[in-house]
Amino acid sequence: MRPTRRRKDEHLEICLHRAIGSGVATGLEAVRFGHGALPELDFDEVELSTKVLGRRLRAPLLIGAMTGGSPRAARLNARLARAAARLGLGMALGSQRAMLEDPRLTAGYAVREAAPDLPLLVGNIGAVQLRRGVTGAQLARAVRAVRADALAFHLNPLQEALQPEGDTCFRGVFAALRAAIPRVGVPCLVKETGAGISRVTARQLARLPLAGIETAGAGGTSWARVEAHRAAGTAAALAGERLAGWGVPTAESIVHCRRAFGRRLVIGSGGIRTGRDVAAALALGADAAAIAGPLLAAAEASERELLRQLEAILLELRLILFCTGRRRPAELRRGVLR
Ligand SMILES: Cc1cc2nc3c(=O)[nH]c(=O)nc-3n(C[C@H](O)[C@H](O)[C@H](O)COP(=O)(O)O)c2cc1C
Repeated sequence: MRPTRRRKDEHLEICLHRAIGSGVATGLEAVRFGHGALPELDFDEVELSTKVLGRRLRAPLLIGAMTGGSPRAARLNARLARAAARLGLGMALGSQRAMLEDPRLTAGYAVREAAPDLPLLVGNIGAVQLRRGVTGAQLARAVRAVRADALAFHLNPLQEALQPEGDTCFRGVFAALRAAIPRVGVPCLVKETGAGISRVTARQLARLPLAGIETAGAGGTSWARVEAHRAAGTAAALAGERLAGWGVPTAESIVHCRRAFGRRLVIGSGGIRTGRDVAAALALGADAAAIAGPLLAAAEASERELLRQLEAILLELRLILFCTGRRRPAELRRGVLR
């Protein structure tokens, strides 16, 4: 088995069966909504549908980037895609590096076969791969092979540096992104993987021809902790544990990204667990939210459990809109915060 594919299966196993939370707060819990006991609204008027990257979603929510490649990942991806399609949500694929290294693995990412109605599919690759010879043209092919609507470049310096086999040379990544983005052929995003985007980094990234940014802030899945499990007994395991909460909390990161990215897409993610978290992310300026870790466990349990979890989040969001007297998610940005 190729190292990339083996690593991805190890990650799945750890994320499903070990404690991987960052142990820090997202900051979203500090967002206070004013309850309106007199909403002057019919609950049926509350409408979650939102456009993201020009695609109409039935709610401002995406299943975050997780997996692809191995047969196990393919099964999980198919479940995630079917649930997303059924609820009219977006979905992001995990890193497509494995299929770039071995095109036979493409089937493990081809979720449109399982879910032809999926309204939005976002591809994924590590930005640092651009320094390892991956070209814009190759990425364009990888995007076409899975019929993705957009491509997200992930930035994960902490995780790479904790991996024994990690790609740690981030020198020149910004210039490589600037050269690659126009060649990909679909709108491009950048994202972290759980340590968030700071104000300075958001401003820097805003200079790139990106369609938007996803925060993946601190407060949810910690990749330092995931790598600590893989490195059990080593100094890296201790360091990873101690840095599990490292990064920019999600709430803060959303505010920085919104300021830096103006009217471009901002996806709030990292520790989004409930409809209330989604509402708080929107109130702070995100256009949509994404959830990763907990949906993997739900998908592993069953498609029905996955649907139940997602439906609860959507219902909760609708209830919050109703109780704040808002008809549409975008209205949460105005005057809801206490
Ligand atoms: C099993 C698993 C695999 C992941 N793989 C990727 C990946 O390949 N590319 C990526 O950009 N992010 C990846 N992530 C990070 C998520 O997209 C997300 O940014 C992060 O987990 C924080 O969100 P959460 O707290 O909702 O899990 C992965 C997350 C999980 C749980």
